[in-house]
Amino acid sequence: MALFRLLPVVLLATSVLSNTLILHESVSHVPSGFEVLGSPSPTQEIELLVALVQPNITGLAKVLDAISFPSSPSYGKYLTAAEVAEYVKPAADSVSAVTNWLPNGASPKTFSPAGDILKVSLTVEQAEELFNTTFKTYTYSANGKEMIRAMNYSLPSTMQQHILYVHPIVSFAPPPQRPAQNTAYKRRATPKSRQLVPCEDIVHPACIQEFYGLPNTTISGSTSNYIGVAGYNVDNASGGEYANNADLATFLNEFRPDIAGNTFSLALLNGAENLQDDSGGLEGQIDIQYTVGIAGNVPVTYVLDLNDDAVGEYMDAINWILTQDTPPTVFTTSYGNEESDFTQSTATSICNGYMQVAAMGVSMLFASGDGGASDKQTNCTEFVPMFPPTCPYVTSVGGTFFQPTTAFTFSGGGFSNYFSVPSWQAADTSAYLGSIGDEFAGMYNPDGRGFPDVASEWEVYIVNEGGVTSVGGTSCASPIFASFIALVNDRLIAAGKPVLGFLNPLLYSTGRTGLDDVTTGQSFGCSGSTSGWNAGTGWDPVSGLGTPNFPAMIEALGI
Ligand SMILES: *[C@@H]1O[C@H](CO)[C@@H](O)[C@H](O)[C@H]1NC(C)=O
Ligand SMILES: *[C@@H]1O[C@H](CO)[C@@H](O)[C@H](O)[C@H]1NC(C)=O
Ligand SMILES: *[C@@H]1O[C@H](CO)[C@@H](O)[C@H](O)[C@H]1NC(C)=O
Ligand SMILES: *[C@@H]1O[C@H](CO)[C@@H](O)[C@H](O)[C@H]1NC(C)=O
Ligand SMILES: *[C@@H]1O[C@H](CO)[C@@H](O)[C@H](O)[C@H]1NC(C)=O
Ligand SMILES: *[C@@H]1O[C@H](CO)[C@@H](O)[C@H](O)[C@H]1NC(C)=O
Repeated sequence: MALFRLLPVVLLATSVLSNTLILHESVSHVPSGFEVLGSPSPTQEIELLVALVQPNITGLAKVLDAISFPSSPSYGKYLTAAEVAEYVKPAADSVSAVTNWLPNGASPKTFSPAGDILKVSLTVEQAEELFNTTFKTYTYSANGKEMIRAMNYSLPSTMQQHILYVHPIVSFAPPPQRPAQNTAYKRRATPKSRQLVPCEDIVHPACIQEFYGLPNTTISGSTSNYIGVAGYNVDNASGGEYANNADLATFLNEFRPDIAGNTFSLALLNGAENLQDDSGGLEGQIDIQYTVGIAGNVPVTYVLDLNDDAVGEYMDAINWILTQDTPPTVFTTSYGNEESDFTQSTATSICNGYMQVAAMGVSMLFASGDGGASDKQTNCTEFVPMFPPTCPYVTSVGGTFFQPTTAFTFSGGGFSNYFSVPSWQAADTSAYLGSIGDEFAGMYNPDGRGFPDVASEWEVYIVNEGGVTSVGGTSCASPIFASFIALVNDRLIAAGKPVLGFLNPLLYSTGRTGLDDVTTGQSFGCSGSTSGWNAGTGWDPVSGLGTPNFPAMIEALGI
C-alpha cells in the first residue's frame, strides 16, 4: 500500500521537473582564431558525444592510489580493462533515461568501451530544441575548418543526474599543438660519422645513452613491454604527421648501428594513413626515431589517429588503449592544448580516461609544451597551463639542454586551474611556492597541480627526408623519457616484478633518487625572455624533479 501512495508523487515530480531546463555549460566568448560564418541549415546532421555519469570513479581513484604508492601492499597489482570498466560503466537507468529522452530514431551508439560515453547523430533543429540553444557555423582560421557550435546549452533537470556533458556544443578547442620546431641548425648535411656531432649542444642517441646511463638493449625478451606513440593527423590541409620508414632506417644506420633494421608497428584509427611521401611534419619522425632509436629492442606501436576534434583525439587514444588485450606499458604524446581550450567537465572526463589506463599499468607521458609559463604569450596577466599535462594521472616531461644540464627556456610548466594538487605532490609544490614568495601572485593557482613532473633533452638530431636535421621541443623530451621508463620496465620484468604503471606516486617518493635534479635555468613568461619560473633545488615548474638516471633508478627500485 505504501508503494501506491508513493508512486503518484514520484510521477508528478518527474513530469514537472522534466519541463525545467537548467543551463548546463556555457562559454562567455568565442576564443581568438574562431569566426562566426552564419547559421547552419536546420536539417544538417551533427554528431554529439553524450558523457554519462561514471558510477564509481572515486572508487577507481582509490584503487589507483593503492596500486601506485610503492609502500602499498597492492603496489603493481594492475587491473584488466574489464575490471576498470566496472567502475565507469553507466547505471542501466542512466542509459535508458537518456535513450528515452533523445528523439525517436536517434539510436545512440557506444563511443567508449565501457559505454559511459555515447555517440549520437541529431539534426541541428533537433539539437536546438533538445538543448534550448542556437547553433552557429564557425571557422577556425588556422585550417579553415568549419564547425557548428553554440555558446551554451541546457539539460532537463531529470537528465542532470545522468549526463556529465554533451560535446562539442560549447567546445572551441583548436587542434592539439605539435610542439616540435625545426631549430636554427635546420637541414645540416648528413654527418659522415656519428662521432661528428659533439654532445655538448644538440644531441643524438649515443649522447642520450651516455647522459642517462641507458643500456643499449633489453634483457627480458618481453613483447608485452611495448611503447605506444600517439600521432595525430587533423587533416591533410593542416599538414599530416607521419613516421617515414626509410628515414628511420637511415637514422638507425647512422646513430644506432647496433639496432639497425628495427621498425615499429602501426595502429591506424579513423582511416588515418602513415603516408611515406615526405608530405608530413617533423613530429612523427621525432616521436618514432626517439623511441625506436633509444629504447633498444623495446617494441614500438605508432597509434595514428585522424580526427579534427581535440577532445575526440585524446579520447580516441584512451579508447584504443582500453581495448587492447595487451596494453602498452608506456604511452607517449607530444601534442597538447592550453587547459582553457577545454571546459572543466571535458578536461576532467579526458583526465578520468587517463586514470582508467593508469589503473591498467600504463605510464602516460606527455610533452609539457613549448611556451614556458605563458604558452609563448607576452603581455599576459596570467600564466597559461597546458592540458593534458595538468591531469594528475599523467606524467609530463619538460625540456633541458646542454651539459651540465639547464632547464630549457620554453619548457612548459606551471599550475592547473582545474585540478587541485594531489597528495603525492603537495609537499613539493608548497616548498617551491614558499621559495618564490609573492612573486607572480595572482598569475597562477597556488592550489593547482604543478607540472611538469620530470624533464629530458629537448634538442636532438633526426633524419628527415633523407638528411640529418636538428629539432627542438618537449616533443623530443617525452619520447626520450618514455624510452627510459620502457628500459626500466624491461629490467623489472627480468627481475620478475611488475612494470612501473602510474609513475607519479613513485617518482615523488622513493623513485626521486632515480632522477637528477636540474637546478639552473628560467622559463619564458608574460613579460617575455626568461620572466617565468626559475628552476631550483627540488621540484620546479620548469624541469620537474629532474632528468633520467638509469643506474640510480635501478638502485632505487632494488633490482
Ligand atoms: C531557453 O533559452 C532562452 C535563451 O537563453 C531563455 O530565454 C529561455 O528561458 C530558455 N527556455 C527554457 C524553457 O528554459
Ligand atoms: C567503489 O569502489 C570501491 C573501491 O573498489 C569499493 O570499495 C566500493 O564498494 C565501490 N562502490 C560501489 C557503490 O560499487
Ligand atoms: C545562451 O547563448 C545565447 C546566444 O549567445 C544568448 O543569447 C543567451 O543569453 C545565452 N543564455 C544563457 C542562459 O547564458
Ligand atoms: C653499446 O653499444 C656500443 C656499440 O654500439 C658499445 O661500444 C657500448 O659499449 C655498448 N654499451 C653497453 C652499456 O653495452
Ligand atoms: C590525404 O592525402 C592523401 C595523399 O594525398 C590521400 O591519399 C588521402 O585520401 C587524404 N586523406 C584525406 C582524409 O583527405
Ligand atoms: C606589449 O605591450 C607593450 C606596451 O604596451 C607593447 O609596446 C608591445 O608591443 C606589446 N607586445 C606584444 C607582443 O603585444
